[in-house]
Amino acid sequence: MKTKFDNISRRRTLGMLGVGVVAAATALPARFAIGGKAKVRIGTLLPYSGTYTRLGQSITNAMELAFAQAGGKLGGRAIELIKIDSEAKPPKAADLTNKLIGREKVDFIVGPVHSGVAMGMAKIAREEGTMMIVPNAGANQVTGPFCAPNIFRTSFSNWQPGHPMGKVLLDEGKKNVVLCYWAYGAGKQSAQGFKDGFVPHGGNVIKEIGIPFPKVEFQSALTEIASIKPDAVYVFFAGGGAVKFVKDWAAAGLKGKIELVGPGFLTEGVTKAQGAAAEGIRTTLHYADTLDYPANVTFRAAYRKAYGKGADVYGVQGFDAGQLIRAGLEAVGGDTGAKADMIKAMEGASIDSPRGKWTMSSAHNPVQNFYLREVKNGVNEVVKLAMENLSDPAKGCTM
Ligand code: PHB
Repeated sequence: MKTKFDNISRRRTLGMLGVGVVAAATALPARFAIGGKAKVRIGTLLPYSGTYTRLGQSITNAMELAFAQAGGKLGGRAIELIKIDSEAKPPKAADLTNKLIGREKVDFIVGPVHSGVAMGMAKIAREEGTMMIVPNAGANQVTGPFCAPNIFRTSFSNWQPGHPMGKVLLDEGKKNVVLCYWAYGAGKQSAQGFKDGFVPHGGNVIKEIGIPFPKVEFQSALTEIASIKPDAVYVFFAGGGAVKFVKDWAAAGLKGKIELVGPGFLTEGVTKAQGAAAEGIRTTLHYADTLDYPANVTFRAAYRKAYGKGADVYGVQGFDAGQLIRAGLEAVGGDTGAKADMIKAMEGASIDSPRGKWTMSSAHNPVQNFYLREVKNGVNEVVKLAMENLSDPAKGCTM
């Protein structure tokens, strides 16, 4: 870990040269323009089109809010955002990440939403040593076998959010469950997280139905579920897909007959679009609209004021990505070359998150509380704490 980031920081370089700013200035990259510090360049690789569009927007909005609350400067340097649409398409991830790092010469990459895109980004960030903050994508590998000193996540691992749901169902005597999910990394790992908390304690998974991402043709799955009549159905869908699934579920007459559950993405940022079909849906997540923390109340009010709509978990994760970058840059006075010191500060950062206090695991993934929530009048309300300080197993991380 040391060798990669042992490069001498710009501030230290200046100090060592001692003799004069002019000599030092010529030795510095051009972007450190004379007469003022260059801007910190932050590149986002997030979905600004497709089924995950509202997730990408929410993350970007809230991260910009965190920067605005810092007075538009981090560690004394202004910020420049370079935004690229990932389209949530994994095959494009490598080229777009290389564009941000190679051509745009960003100091930080922030993204993505989609686990498949995360795999491509993380591979390059590891090789290049570029600071990477993941504000959503849960790919277990990012803080597992792909973990690296320069990669941090402010969201969750896919294993985490659905894991507490197994216990919730078993405590209510619901033992026979069907799983239905987008059949890519996130859906599969979410299903596994649920099963790990369900099957060893007596739960039966009767059937798993995979739907190719980002398809939303759910009819045959719903027909099959109706004929199986399980106690509950655990699903992983988000964004536009979650809107469609929840509406189709109600239209198929399953609402109120079979319990529909999942990680909270099913109802995050989409309850307005889902309307009455969302009412009563229970999910588990590391956030709920009604969490009674001062930081949550302030955040939600500021977000509404700035953007004219309610905040959601994606915003919280983006806001915390902004706060984490802030903590790193402030610790080194804006000197992005002082990577080892910046990483140390980020590892120990105390972030006043709207979700409540969380800590960074040694694999750089949040250790956090998970709540059972229920949609009431379009609001994801807290029902109870489902699991406290849940940590991802971080299998394969040898950092
Ligand atoms: C993911 O692909 O990791 C992912 C996407 C959307 C979510 C959660 C996870 O809401």
